[in-house]
Parts: sequence; C-alpha cells; structure tokens
Amino acid sequence: MKRFAVSEPYALAPIPTTGPRVIAIANQKGGVGKTTTAINLATALAATEKKILIIDLDPQGNASTGLGLTAAARAQSTYQVLMGDLPAREAMRSSGIGNLWVIPAGVDLAGAELELVAEMGREFRLRMALEGQLDGLDYVLIDCPPALGLLTLNALVAAHAVMVPLQCEFFALEGISHLVKTIERVRRLFNHDLDIQGIVLTMFDRRNNLSDMVAADVRGYFGSKVYNTVIPRNVRISEAPSHGKPVLLYDLKCAGSQAYLHLAGEMIKRERGWAA
Ligand SMILES: Nc1ncnc2c1ncn2[C@@H]1O[C@H](COP(=O)(O)OP(=O)(O)O)[C@@H](O)[C@H]1O
Ligand SMILES: [Mg+2]
Repeated sequence: MKRFAVSEPYALAPIPTTGPRVIAIANQKGGVGKTTTAINLATALAATEKKILIIDLDPQGNASTGLGLTAAARAQSTYQVLMGDLPAREAMRSSGIGNLWVIPAGVDLAGAELELVAEMGREFRLRMALEGQLDGLDYVLIDCPPALGLLTLNALVAAHAVMVPLQCEFFALEGISHLVKTIERVRRLFNHDLDIQGIVLTMFDRRNNLSDMVAADVRGYFGSKVYNTVIPRNVRISEAPSHGKPVLLYDLKCAGSQAYLHLAGEMIKRERGWAA
C-alpha cells in the first residue's frame, strides 16, 4: 500500500512571518512557571500596547483560571479549535485586560490527546487551526501542558519559537535535555525553522547557593539563549492566581511583577535584534 504523507506539504512550508510571532511556552516538567510566565509576560507585553493572545493548551486550564475566566466563558475552548469545530477567531475571549485575549481550555481538552492519535495530520491541528486567524495580533503565547505528548507537539509545530521556563533546582539541565531532543525532532520532521526563543530562569532563590550554581550551569550550556532577567521566588506571584489576576495587576510593585516587566522589555529587544 502506498504511504500517504499528509504532513509533508505543511512541513516544507515555513510558517508565515507576516502575522504575529507565535511562541510556545514549554517544559515537560510541571510547576516550573510556564503558566505564570504566559500570564504575566502576556500582561506586561499588553501594557506596551502590543496585541497578545494566550492559547491555553493545558487541560488543567490554569492560564484561563489565572486570568479569571468563568466556566461560562470557557464553554468554547481550545478543544473545539483543535478538533476543527470552531474557528480560532471565534474562540478568542477578552481577558478583561486591554490588548490581551485568550482562547481558554476546558477539561474536554484532556480527551483531545487520545482523540488526536487516530487523526490524519495530528501534529498539525493547531497550526492549521491558526492559519489566517491571527491578523492584528503581535504575539501569541501558547501555554503548554506538563508533558511532551500530542498537545505540546501541536504547539511546537504551530510556533515560530519556544520559550522554556526553567526552575533553578538540581537536575534542571537533565530535565531539559529531553525537551531539547524533542525540539530537534520537531525541527527535522515538521517545522524546520523552530527556534529556541530563550530560557527563563524561574523561582530563583537568592538565599540558596544551589540557585546560583544551577543558573551558572544553565548559562554555561545555553549561553546567550538564557535571559538575563531572572524571575525570583516571590510569594505575591503565587497568591495572584487565586484572585484571578496576573501578579502585575495584583501587586505591581512586588519583585515578581517587576521581574516580568523586565522580561517583557528584554524579550522585545531580543525579538527586534533577531528580526533585523
Ligand atoms: N516566581 C515564583 N515565585 C513563587 N511562586 C511561583 C513562582 N512562579 C510560579 N509560582 C507558583 O508555582 C506554582 C507552579 O507554577 P506554574 O506557573 O503553574 O507552573 P507550570 O505551568 O509550569 O506547571 C503555582 O502555584 C505558581 O503560582
Ligand atoms: Mg501550567
């Protein structure tokens, strides 16, 4: 029987560069700050008048909850978009924050991983769903689940680049090597231009020598890919989601908010440098 390679035409066509930059926020480890980074980086970018969309691709829906979206506002979600049942544009909800929209996740997304397995072009569902739907936006941040399954693969295939939040803890580098291999595979097979946008060190604890050692190790390995901005461990960051708010709106002055503002500034500078 002839093998029918449905993915080939997509694999060879680069993602258009005229629309927004699409950035997947990924790390297969849970609790490293992916969602926190998605929400707060998005809010900081939105404050600079950039038009931002967060796509919540985690069945846990933490990004949606953290932005205060009610269950009713989450009825139409990433699941329908991935399944091709709803145009992405119609799934975009206002976050209540100027310039920031979100495609929320509901629990039905948990089933998508299994349902997609049998679908043709299963790695391309998100990329196809976003085609022609992102006009007018500057950045799209995809909040990935803590696994390297089909959902994260869909994000990596749909994105121009990956941002990796990395918690400053022992074994941080070992954990990331699996992700780097996955990124290399995606680059080879599906998305030739996929770039590592940057590594963001999170939950940095100044009182802990280990944080310094891990940060030095990560910088030694990834060099300039590592952001200069480091996100400190900060209790205000962990309090904010229960108020349905980004920490930037919960306590603008706290160290966590200030770090995310810096990160957004550094990101815009980097993006300009790379786009030139
Ligand atoms: N810099 C930080 N300081 C303190 N708590 C943080 C920080 N970043 C994230 N957290 C908290 O740690 C938990 C995991 O973060 P989260 O962003 O949800 O990780 P992930 O999306 O990678 O699973 C959350 O409760 C969050 O509020
Ligand atoms: Mg998360």
